[in-house]
Amino acid sequence: MVILIHSVALVATLLGAAYFGLLVFEAYRRQRQLADLHEEEKAVFRARLEMVRAPLAQVSAQAWSGYRKFRLEGKVLEAESVCSFYLAPHDGRPLPPFLPGQYLTFRLSIPGQTREVTRCYSLSDSPDHTDYYRVTIKRLPPPPKAPTASPGLSSSHFHDRLQVGDFLDVKAPGGQFHLDVEHRGPVVLVGGGVGVTPVLSMLNYIATAPGNREAWFFYGVRNGREHVMKEYLRELAAQHQNIHVVACYSDPLPEDRAGVDYDYAERVGVELFKRVLKVTNFDFYICGPPPMMETLTRDLGAWGVPENRVHFEAFGPASVKKVSQAAQPAAADAPGFELNFTRSAKKLVWTPGAGSLLEFAEANGIHIDSGCRAGNCGTCATAVRDGQFSYLSTPGAQVEKGSCLACVSVPKTALSIDA
Ligand SMILES: Cc1cc2nc3c(=O)[nH]c(=O)nc-3n(C[C@H](O)[C@H](O)[C@H](O)COP(=O)(O)OP(=O)(O)OC[C@H]3O[C@@H](n4cnc5c(N)ncnc54)[C@H](O)[C@@H]3O)c2cc1C
Ligand code: FES
Repeated sequence: MVILIHSVALVATLLGAAYFGLLVFEAYRRQRQLADLHEEEKAVFRARLEMVRAPLAQVSAQAWSGYRKFRLEGKVLEAESVCSFYLAPHDGRPLPPFLPGQYLTFRLSIPGQTREVTRCYSLSDSPDHTDYYRVTIKRLPPPPKAPTASPGLSSSHFHDRLQVGDFLDVKAPGGQFHLDVEHRGPVVLVGGGVGVTPVLSMLNYIATAPGNREAWFFYGVRNGREHVMKEYLRELAAQHQNIHVVACYSDPLPEDRAGVDYDYAERVGVELFKRVLKVTNFDFYICGPPPMMETLTRDLGAWGVPENRVHFEAFGPASVKKVSQAAQPAAADAPGFELNFTRSAKKLVWTPGAGSLLEFAEANGIHIDSGCRAGNCGTCATAVRDGQFSYLSTPGAQVEKGSCLACVSVPKTALSIDA
């Protein structure tokens, strides 16, 4: 009986793998064929590719488990301090597509660091390519308030140390912030600074997908030095009637030319949308610095855009904080709980205002590995020895029974965790 059950499970697994393999191969084959066709034939093939894409996208998050080896194939400087990195799988097998807006999680061994460093970077190109992934990374200098601090660990490692031919450990694409590819309605894509990366992937997807979906791409930077892929974006808009690119410089340099390098000398904001778009009938996808997103989400609501049509992501803890505040309306007067960090031998009292378990641990000098800080990459999984916790938002990552994702967890009772 046991042998029979195992055999059935094995056959089911093999069938599933074969089906997935076929889908990948079919998408790959059609993509390769595109290059050899005339324009009208391309349109037909693109439509077919689109039909293959949808089921692929659903399984893409499960494409491989754990880390896969990638080779750095190319580095392209896009603007001052911003560089694109092209990554090919070391095993040479085709890459599964992803949903435009998703990101990769990297595990990095950085010289001088005692621990491996985990960081997430959005995929910045369209999912059509089965032979490489691209991420675009800004090198982070020390913040103005702490000029003597070390520059960003991972971003400096990518920019300064990694060379073509080097290997990287990469988790499969993941993340909840992605374009709704089933829907064909008009979209507004907003990228602030290096937050442009996920919305750039969405724009590239729309440019190659059938259906001429209307897309308005608002890109906010301080000036021309930060403006990535300027020529490429202008060209994309020139070639596609459905795509509109609007560049906003908040602080243009004397050499930046209005109407040539940028369209508006102001921040991306709802007042600008009112002038340019005039109507609210769009889905908005926003990624940028926390102040920009807070202002935009608030002002879009005031303009009458329903909450479910505003999608956003922060490159860090800001998105979690927003959820956490929403989930804890009674924060100030709610009781605290004792938290026992067993490995660090620290017992502390957590109160709702202290944020997630991860934020609370960090504020008290206790290290927990983290990546996305939004419940999606699984890096902060921490064993719970005793007590109960709840999630501030439904996590995207799977976690073993008896563990929690510290970045989106708060205690429900006194809690003892392995950190
Ligand atoms: C889902 C997601 C997608 C992302 N996508 C992208 C992307 O496409 N492109 C991109 O560029 N980034 C992206 N990020 C951000 C990225 O993951 C990293 O957070 C970013 O590169 C900074 O990491 P770092 O290791 O370079 O900096 P860190 O080492 O984490 O340092 C961060 C900052 O703190 C400063 N600092 C260091 N030590 C101190 C100290 N003692 N006191 C004060 N300040 C200090 C550093 O100088 C730096 O400015 C994304 C993040 C998420 C969560
Ligand atoms: S840091 Fe990614 S799930 Fe918690």
